[in-house]
Amino acid sequence: MNLSLPDESAAIGFVASLAVTLAILAGVVVTGRAAKRKVHIPLVIGAVASLGVTIYFAEKLGELYDLESAGVIYPIHLALAKTTTVGYLLPLVTGVLTVRDATRIVWHRRCAYFILVMTVLTAATGTTMVLMAERLG
Ligand code: HEM
Repeated sequence: MNLSLPDESAAIGFVASLAVTLAILAGVVVTGRAAKRKVHIPLVIGAVASLGVTIYFAEKLGELYDLESAGVIYPIHLALAKTTTVGYLLPLVTGVLTVRDATRIVWHRRCAYFILVMTVLTAATGTTMVLMAERLG
C-alpha cells in the first residue's frame, strides 16, 4: 500500500498503534499466565493485527526521514525488526502445539518471552533511529 498521509498522521498513528500493541501484548501475557485461553487466543490475533498497523505507520514515518543518516543504529534496527517479525511465528506455532499437548508450554513460554524482549528492543532501537535521523524536506 502506498497512500500518502499528512506528516503528523504518520507520527500520531505510529505512537498510538504502538501503545495499543504493547497494551494488547500485556493482556496476552496476563491471560496466558492465568490460563484464560478463550481470551488469550483472541488477544493474540488482536496483537498481531495491531502490530501490522504499527509496521504500516512506522514505514510511513520512516519515509519522512533520511534513516541512513542515523548511523549504525539503522542496520541494527532493520535486522532486529526483520528477526522479530519472522520470530512471531515461534509463539504462534508453539501456542498451537500447546493447545494440542500441554507439556509444550515450556517452549511456548520461552518463545513468548523471547519475542516480547525482541519487540521491546525493536521499538527502542526504532525510536532511537528516528530521533537520530535527519528529517527530509
Ligand atoms: C505473540 C504470541 C503469544 C504470546 C506472547 C503468548 C504468551 C503466553 C504466555 C506468557 C503464556 C503463559 C506461560 C506460562 O505458563 O508462564 C501463554 C500460555 C498459553 N498460550 Fe500463549 N502466547 C502467544 C500466542 C499463542 C497462540 C497463537 C496460542 C494458540 C493458538 C497460544 C496458546 C497458549 C496456551 C494454550 C497457553 C497455556 C494456557 C494454560 O496454561 O492453560 N498462545 N502464552
